[in-house]
Amino acid sequence: MCGIVGYNGNEKAVDILLDGLSRLEYRGYDSAGIAIEKNKKIEVIKAKGKLLNLKDKLNKKNLDGTCGIGHTRWATHGEPNEINAHPHVSNDGTVTLVHNGIIENYQELIQKLEKHNYVFYSQTDTEVLANLIDYYYKKYKMGPIDAINRTMVRIRGSYAIAVMFKDYQDEIWVARKDSPMIIGKDKNGTYLASDVPAILKYTKNVYYIDNLECACLKKDDVTFYDLNGDKIEKELNEIKWDVSSAEKEGYEHFMIKEINEQPDVIKKTINSLIFDNKIKLENANLNEEDLKSFDNLYIVACGSAYHVGICAQYIFEDLARIPTRVEIASEFRYRKPILNKNTLVIIISQSGETADSLAALREAKNKGVKTLAIVNVVGSSIAREADYVLYTLAGPEIAVATTKAFSTQLIAIYVLATELAKINKKINNEYYNELINEIKNIPEKIQIILNTLTEKIQKFSSKFSNIHDAFYIGRGLDYAISLEGSLKLKEISYIHSEAYASGELKHGTISLIEDNTLVIGIATQEEIYEKTISNLVEVKSRGAYVIVITTEDKDVSKVANDTIIIPKTNKYFSPSLSVIPLQLIGYYITVSKGLDVDKPRNLAKSVTVE
Ligand code: M6R
Repeated sequence: MCGIVGYNGNEKAVDILLDGLSRLEYRGYDSAGIAIEKNKKIEVIKAKGKLLNLKDKLNKKNLDGTCGIGHTRWATHGEPNEINAHPHVSNDGTVTLVHNGIIENYQELIQKLEKHNYVFYSQTDTEVLANLIDYYYKKYKMGPIDAINRTMVRIRGSYAIAVMFKDYQDEIWVARKDSPMIIGKDKNGTYLASDVPAILKYTKNVYYIDNLECACLKKDDVTFYDLNGDKIEKELNEIKWDVSSAEKEGYEHFMIKEINEQPDVIKKTINSLIFDNKIKLENANLNEEDLKSFDNLYIVACGSAYHVGICAQYIFEDLARIPTRVEIASEFRYRKPILNKNTLVIIISQSGETADSLAALREAKNKGVKTLAIVNVVGSSIAREADYVLYTLAGPEIAVATTKAFSTQLIAIYVLATELAKINKKINNEYYNELINEIKNIPEKIQIILNTLTEKIQKFSSKFSNIHDAFYIGRGLDYAISLEGSLKLKEISYIHSEAYASGELKHGTISLIEDNTLVIGIATQEEIYEKTISNLVEVKSRGAYVIVITTEDKDVSKVANDTIIIPKTNKYFSPSLSVIPLQLIGYYITVSKGLDVDKPRNLAKSVTVE
């Protein structure tokens, strides 16, 4: 969580830093701050709350320095106030830094530094970093690399830091371990950021800095060092994302823009995996031999990506007949999962930086098990560390609530399941071709849903803005997608909602149903359709207000207060269609409540702490 940026070049730094921070605000928005070199001094300006407050403060200043760092915070240690906001400064102002991550042994380090007369003004774990670097800098007098490297050896936890030294005002020093950072370069200067969108407007040429490496950003060059202080060479990589993909482009929120981008990004993802009606996974380095060797799958992910995993579990087992287990990453890493040499651990993540998912990947690798990452952000930690990588081509996703990344992850699962089913001879060629054709039809069917249902959902959503609870129910894949629908509503609208396998309601939850309780039923699965409808009748007869999402061939008028009709597709691919109205419901209810859709309270887009 938290976002950091930096710029060193020929332009006015404050504008570039604020622009970068505005694109990173989805990572945290409790407070923000910047540090800029000015007349041989480093000036620090911070403000509590959203970036707007910092901007107001900066309007009154005349900062024309061309080198600076910035931070937007998601509080972990210490309340969100101005004192705890970054940048943090060492006792005599020698070191100024911003940090994303958590320093686990900060208490112990504070005690050590207090013995050397350092005093602390904040409750953060970050301030200790500024003083520890300062301590080594002055003790050994061997310059920034030495001070930063000694600090890295001494601290435990995760960090991406950008540091300015009073004595080296035309340089920014950075280092990282387990928290994301990219470094960019163009003719106007050098850049650093937690994520690509922050600098995409300025450059598409980036370096990836690895764990326990540090780098020095000068106006015209970047030099990388390892933990011994030796120089290392790095390749400059080109980011393929469009600049416009990180802009709202006339939409009111990123979330609705991203919902509408789904047909297009899904098509791109399909085109990267299916060529001439054949699935080709060579881009992921996966060949037939590898795929044949796996006799069980373990899917690990968090949040919505975990919901993709639940869909995947149904599909892999039913279509490809491969035993599959799905688990929340934060649980997986502290259990002792039973994995064997024929297990493939699949990590699903949009950001590729989620701390628990990354830790789960490492846990699996430590056990000698092969790992496949389904990831959106190219060059992210999970993508770089997995044995195989299947990229989703959703482009930058800015809204905290995921939509298009989720949908492209589903596509990756369909393709993988279809290929595994073919390789393991669970389907014949005819069905293989049918599945492929239907995967290719998904973008068009989503477009139909967006064209025909957006206005209807927008209209009826406002009547639910005052509800306190909602229940999402379904069976099989409809249950899996209920989980996602429920999360989409609760995370942005703050309405309590739960998802249940419909058959489970009678084991407790149905007692919560009373007059006008909103129940959204998803009924797309032919084999269990009637059972789901019976469950909906049960809640309706207890007073629930029932919305049914179903296909055009079904008549649910007797049970539904409102009906949402989506096109028919193969049973395995229905989540891709049913999730669209669910995303729209979450979005429009939140809009009607007047809330900040893209930046819900307490959340950050990329959860890089445990
Ligand atoms: O970047 P990841 O896909 O690893 O993130 C996982 C979850 O944090 C994420 O899906 C989260 O649940 C979203 N806010 C859901 O909309």
